[in-house]
Amino acid sequence: MKKGSIKNLKQKIKSRKAVIGVIGLGYVGLPLALTFAKNGFNVIGVDIDRDRIKKIKKGFSYITDVSRAELKNALKKKKFKATQNVKFIKKLDAVIICVPTPLGKNREPDISYIRKAVTKVKDNIRKGQIIILESTTYPGTTKEILLPILESTGLKEGKDFYLAFSPERIDPGNKVYRTENTPKIIGGISKKSTQIAKLLYDQVIEEVIPVSSANAAEMVKLLENTFRVVNIALVNEIATLCDKFNLDIWEIIDAAKTKPYGFMPFYPGPGVGGHCIPIDPLYLSWKAKEHGFETKFIDLASSINESMPQYVIERLEKILSNRRKTVDKSNILIVGIAYKKDVKDLRESPAIGIINLLQKRGASISYHDPYFPFLKINSIDMKPIKLNGSNLKKYDCALVMTDHSNVDYKFLADNLKLIFDTRDIFSRLGIRSRSIIKL
Ligand SMILES: NC(=O)c1ccc[n+]([C@@H]2O[C@H](COP(=O)([O-])OP(=O)(O)OC[C@H]3O[C@@H](n4cnc5c(N)ncnc54)[C@H](O)[C@@H]3O)[C@@H](O)[C@H]2O)c1
Repeated sequence: MKKGSIKNLKQKIKSRKAVIGVIGLGYVGLPLALTFAKNGFNVIGVDIDRDRIKKIKKGFSYITDVSRAELKNALKKKKFKATQNVKFIKKLDAVIICVPTPLGKNREPDISYIRKAVTKVKDNIRKGQIIILESTTYPGTTKEILLPILESTGLKEGKDFYLAFSPERIDPGNKVYRTENTPKIIGGISKKSTQIAKLLYDQVIEEVIPVSSANAAEMVKLLENTFRVVNIALVNEIATLCDKFNLDIWEIIDAAKTKPYGFMPFYPGPGVGGHCIPIDPLYLSWKAKEHGFETKFIDLASSINESMPQYVIERLEKILSNRRKTVDKSNILIVGIAYKKDVKDLRESPAIGIINLLQKRGASISYHDPYFPFLKINSIDMKPIKLNGSNLKKYDCALVMTDHSNVDYKFLADNLKLIFDTRDIFSRLGIRSRSIIKL
């Protein structure tokens, strides 16, 4: 079989002799790399972060969803290695790009990480490789940005190399849905690319769903995340209204979700965080503007979600003032600083903004979060407190921002004077007390 031919690539994938490269070993890339390794592929992970590479080599996982044992096992079996050296790209049969896609200064898409990563691929490309982008981005990125960079080598997509987009759907902290059992969408630039990308993911993922193009696959991801952002904003708005009506939003949602069709529960909170929900829809609204199109839903939803930290502070002020206290003279304990439950991830976490705002108002702030032994961001430099009775008595109020599973909420309820719970964790655990006020 001819080296570099499509037949050869397919054969290598089917026999699991294909060498897989993952560029960017973060929340998305590291679990994906280990999924391929677990299924018998040789995987090379490339990352520019020297510290992350060092940690991997020592068998230390910095991603909550990746266990030390899982990582060590892949390293021991020599199925996975991590490097900063991009020259390895030449050895790869499949290259999967999982680099960050943040926002720039003016909240526009910053695809510089994608550009840099794909340029490294271009510099090391060879015939017979498939390149897949997994980073979330606006529709058109694979075709308008990656394709011309890769074809500038003189090689032709669909003939010499293959190119596809496949959105990552990982849900950090989710114990049920992991990479292997979350259906995967793929869309190639050419039909051949779709075919090969499907064949590749079919080896490790239970269900792979091809769509008509890379643009369509990019749009699927943005529809999914826009759907979440809009529904979270809706329920955040209804939550603030319920407070005016003196109704419990959590009770309302629990009752509404008994309807077997036409309703899907979303929950309010102190704001949205992470690398996806607050950012991805803005990629779509930016691209829409290029077409003279205004994405009203995204703009409204983003502004409602962004107003939640301020709303939480206003509610906290009221709660304290009902007890003849003011924010500036209060000792406040923040419980949970991660942007979501059971993850060690602070990106875009609303807790950071809230701590900043409360400190500016003169409040004395401490925090507890089992995932963060220290907190050092801009003007914030703090150590967590230990949860013991005498410590807890010092606080005028605890503000629960994140509902991590490994926190003793009963102990908190027994020892704190006042709790403002923005996640409804106490009710869900059956802990009731007059000192707990819910969002
Ligand atoms: N975190 C999530 O829950 C999630 C879910 C679905 C999709 N996504 C998307 O996946 C992408 C990656 O997100 P993440 O959370 O894994 O980010 P991350 O920041 O955790 O990891 C990205 C990694 O890429 C590395 N990197 C950056 N430029 C590089 C380069 N040129 N070469 C090699 N490595 C490079 C960084 O050092 C980092 O380790 C983003 O587009 C994000 O929107 C994330």
